[in-house]
Amino acid sequence: MVSYEACARSITLFWRKRKITLLSEFNIFYLTKGNILMKTSVINGLILSALTLSPLVFANQAGDFIIRGGATMIDPDSDKSNIVLAGTDSSMTLTVDDNTQLGLNFVYFYDSNWAVELLAATPYSHDVTIQDKNAVLGVDGANLGEVSHLPPTLSALYYFDTNTAFKPYIGLGINYTIFFDEEFSAAPKSLGLSNLELDSSFGLSAQIGADFHLDEQWSLNASIRYIDIDTEATFEVGGASVGKASIDVDPMVYSLMLGYKF
Ligand code: NI
Repeated sequence: MVSYEACARSITLFWRKRKITLLSEFNIFYLTKGNILMKTSVINGLILSALTLSPLVFANQAGDFIIRGGATMIDPDSDKSNIVLAGTDSSMTLTVDDNTQLGLNFVYFYDSNWAVELLAATPYSHDVTIQDKNAVLGVDGANLGEVSHLPPTLSALYYFDTNTAFKPYIGLGINYTIFFDEEFSAAPKSLGLSNLELDSSFGLSAQIGADFHLDEQWSLNASIRYIDIDTEATFEVGGASVGKASIDVDPMVYSLMLGYKF
């Protein structure tokens, strides 16, 4: 008769052995495929090391500094930007399209939970389209022009304790957006529109994000933030400063980055 304990022990042993076999098969697979699929293998190797390294390795400490680089997309929500002509609501509105640029994050840790983050990026450029549903000027869907801007954002981040390679955080910050190179496209210019100018904007931002540590230095980061960007556009019509539009850009900002910890 085989006792229950002996049976349980042999099952445990079998699975332990099986696990070891699976792991070594896995490693051999990586070694053989490594030369052919170098990139995949490096990333998989990093993830593998992230899974096998002690979670303590990934703990953020006071004085840690992370630089992240990647894609940052700004997706404006500007459907309610009414154009006012000579003090009267024209019933025309503006929409601003999305744009993706190289985003940079600089993160400095005060302790394992609190950090300060600066978001910087290469200049964004957005097409501005005019919505003229009531055919006031008969320019519905026309490209009004292009605006460029820089949206530096300084945030306080709070990292949650997870004891794993996955580190989620929330953040609250302030944004300063500078618009430049505002220019009407050819069609509105021919209608006598000129001298487009957009005020700088100062507003709050809120975000959620997470780092996934690949090893002690490298990490992947994803974040979603909302930025309150409101600006007033002014322009001239036939040389008179009569055009105005309040634009609530209020974008969602999506970032996917690779980070390096110093
Ligand atoms: Ni707003």
